[in-house]
Amino acid sequence: MKTVITYGTFDLFHVGHLRILTRAKALGNRLIVAVSTDEFNFVKGKSSVIPYASRAEIVAGLSCVDQVIPEENWDQKISDIKNWSVDVFVMGHDWDGKFDYLSDYCEVTYLDRTSGVSSTMIKRTVGASSSSAIGF
Ligand code: CTP
Repeated sequence: MKTVITYGTFDLFHVGHLRILTRAKALGNRLIVAVSTDEFNFVKGKSSVIPYASRAEIVAGLSCVDQVIPEENWDQKISDIKNWSVDVFVMGHDWDGKFDYLSDYCEVTYLDRTSGVSSTMIKRTVGASSSSAIGF
């Protein structure tokens, strides 16, 4: 059993999200996705259109995802790796090098992002206010 973990907001779920999760799963047998809570997004200076419960439900419904946990702070990664017996930590290349310190605990891999799409771009395109959440 090889367990992979990755983290993200996954707002307005798009094909870049699907591709990175599919490729993350292919690095092992079990994929855990830590989805940022609305409160943690606020700390990060982000706000999602879709609330946490729905973002987590969407990610949990993917065939490549085995488990969803909440991402509630910057410091939980080492304990997540230990608690869930994680072998591989995966992030997109936008985080290149930022999590190398985790290589004391597991393998750390950065995957290429899909070009031309992001939650921010979709928000801009549809003109949605990033500060107004949808209540479902
Ligand atoms: N990701 C990706 N390709 C994209 C967009 C995101 O591979 N085009 C990856 C990110 O690198 C990250 C994960 O998907 O590992 C979750 O990213 P998230 O920040 O939730 O998505 P973005 O679309 O980048 O959101 P934002 O525009 O708010 O930064």
